[in-house]
Amino acid sequence: MSERNTFYITTPIYYVNDVPHIGHAYTTIAADVLARHHRMLGHRTFFLTGTDEHGQKIQQAASAKGLTAQQLADQTVENFRRLWKVLNITNDDFIRTTEERHERVVQHIFSKLLEKGDIYLGSYEGWYCVPCETYVPEAQMGEGNTCPDCGRPLQKMTEESYFFRMSKYEKPLLEYYESHPEAILPKSRYNEIVSFIKGGLKDQSISRTTLTWGVPVPGDPKHVVYVWFDALINYLSALGYPDENGLWKTFWPACHHLVGKDIIRFHSVVWPALLMALELEPPRMVFAHGWWTVDGDKMSKSKGNVVDPFEMADVYGVDPFRYFLLREVPFGLDGDFSERAMVQRINSDLANDLGNLLNRTLQMMKKYRDGLVPSAVSPTGLELSVRRMGEEVTVQVDDLLERFAFDEALKAIWSFIGRANKYIDETMPWKLGSEGKGEELDRVLRTLFEALKLASQLVYPFMPECASRIWSQLGLPGSVSDCRRPWSFDEMEPVKVEKGDVLFPRIDLAKWDETRGRLLAERVAAAQGGQGSEGDDMDYSDHEEEITIDLFKKVELRVAQVLAVEPVPKADKLYKLELDLGYEKRTIVSGIREFYQPDELVGKRIIVICNLKPSVIRGVKSNGMLLAAESPSTKNFTLGLLTVDRDVPLGSRIH
Ligand code: MSP
Repeated sequence: MSERNTFYITTPIYYVNDVPHIGHAYTTIAADVLARHHRMLGHRTFFLTGTDEHGQKIQQAASAKGLTAQQLADQTVENFRRLWKVLNITNDDFIRTTEERHERVVQHIFSKLLEKGDIYLGSYEGWYCVPCETYVPEAQMGEGNTCPDCGRPLQKMTEESYFFRMSKYEKPLLEYYESHPEAILPKSRYNEIVSFIKGGLKDQSISRTTLTWGVPVPGDPKHVVYVWFDALINYLSALGYPDENGLWKTFWPACHHLVGKDIIRFHSVVWPALLMALELEPPRMVFAHGWWTVDGDKMSKSKGNVVDPFEMADVYGVDPFRYFLLREVPFGLDGDFSERAMVQRINSDLANDLGNLLNRTLQMMKKYRDGLVPSAVSPTGLELSVRRMGEEVTVQVDDLLERFAFDEALKAIWSFIGRANKYIDETMPWKLGSEGKGEELDRVLRTLFEALKLASQLVYPFMPECASRIWSQLGLPGSVSDCRRPWSFDEMEPVKVEKGDVLFPRIDLAKWDETRGRLLAERVAAAQGGQGSEGDDMDYSDHEEEITIDLFKKVELRVAQVLAVEPVPKADKLYKLELDLGYEKRTIVSGIREFYQPDELVGKRIIVICNLKPSVIRGVKSNGMLLAAESPSTKNFTLGLLTVDRDVPLGSRIH
């Protein structure tokens, strides 16, 4: 089979230390759209996702939960598998780095490169970021020896280590990228990577003696393979490398990696160098997508704004969520996720444009032809122009998806849907019906039927459920997922349409503001008031990295007494509390209203962080934060306030 007819698409393999969030869903949905699209093009397609289960980060998260790393991985992997089912992801395989089939390949590659001299034993001293699992060059360290990526403190480490001879591949990589400018997209990332390589490549430390949770280095088991070296190899191990009969023989050169912008260097510097060492071709394309913020803010648990993809699918449906993520923002750029903006798109693009086109067509088909689709009637110039546009848009979509321009592809599809709606207004079929112009009416209804059939085929990769519903309401045989290019506009047996439920019910925005919008605002306010999230059923790991006593001492905790409590207007979860610290009085806002009556609080001695930067919550200035313990699961959520067990003076410091 020629290379052009194979398509291998991958997502990053996700760490199992946390629950899946919008970033994971984003890449995986994008990969799914491409896989479905390429299957329709008739290409032999392989779509891989999976989980990255080794390394310090996983080991630490596990011990914080009292689990072994393997137990944590076994639990968390199920969240990912479940999410991909919910989001209709059609991955052909799911690889876990703790599987034997993967570990075997990691060891094989390690031994092979050791033998070849591309891996050697040396020693390493450097500044290490535990959460990012990476050494940071001194020149890149942030203020106070912090990680330039996550801002957390770095640790100085010295260890005996195996190194990958990356310096050897500096020139070959530059040559490769010079002759393959499409191998990294978007262009800005290509430029960034090329100039990074030009800055010089150092050999990479690829083993650790400081932990045990990893693939043992063959012949030297006090070392485990560094988690990134281990992880990148998943793209080959899942394809059965180095087996002579493995799938890699078919798919390897057709490899497309989708990754977030933060992990592009691993994929377009380390990984292709490793492949060159193995005498394999580098990936055909690495595409780095942007990051989502949420309502203009960085996503974080402490801000209460983490977008849970399960919840999105539950509240809005899977297809609207898939559609919104890919329509709202060009794939290579950062974007802002806002549920309100998603509601607006559901109403305008999905309910109005697409939903109405189907609804109006089926209603007229029922009314005038008892649901029977008229057979093809010779088209006039108007019909031909609609048809031509359909064909042009199909070509455009292919071209745009070749460059992963999902938003542009959707815009092109919607321009066709818009054209079909306009065609109804131009031809006024209800008038043709009442005037008894049967042949003209047949022509219009038939054309609309064909347009909707094409719309179903075009939206299928993005919104598979919606496409299938259109397909079956049109009375078409088989399944839209079985359609293969080129598809014909009008050759088919007579069918009868069957009107079903509305595709996308409109959402009343004013009601949404009152209910869902309010809930979201309160979640954020409650988190800012320091009392965690409410309402969702996510169980986040709350484990933080180690801190020094000096850092802890900076938190000024004191005993305060509650003087008065009143509800904050228009916020069901919030109280305004007046506190006495002995040496001064203060006001704080706190999201504990559903757990305490005001009279339970008045007179209570509580613990307050006094040097927290004041913030305005629902129009009330909050000067400090109280401390409370909350149950780890937000199902059966309970909360208890911290207090002191004997009568110490107000304002006493907590140490
Ligand atoms: N395990 C590594 C990848 C190894 S691939 C051989 C890893 N895992 S991860 O779980 O931390 O993250 C995976 C992906 O999520 C990355 O591509 C990252 O860019 C993406 N995102 C994390 N937060 C994101 C947003 N807020 N927005 C969009 N994508 C984000 O890295």
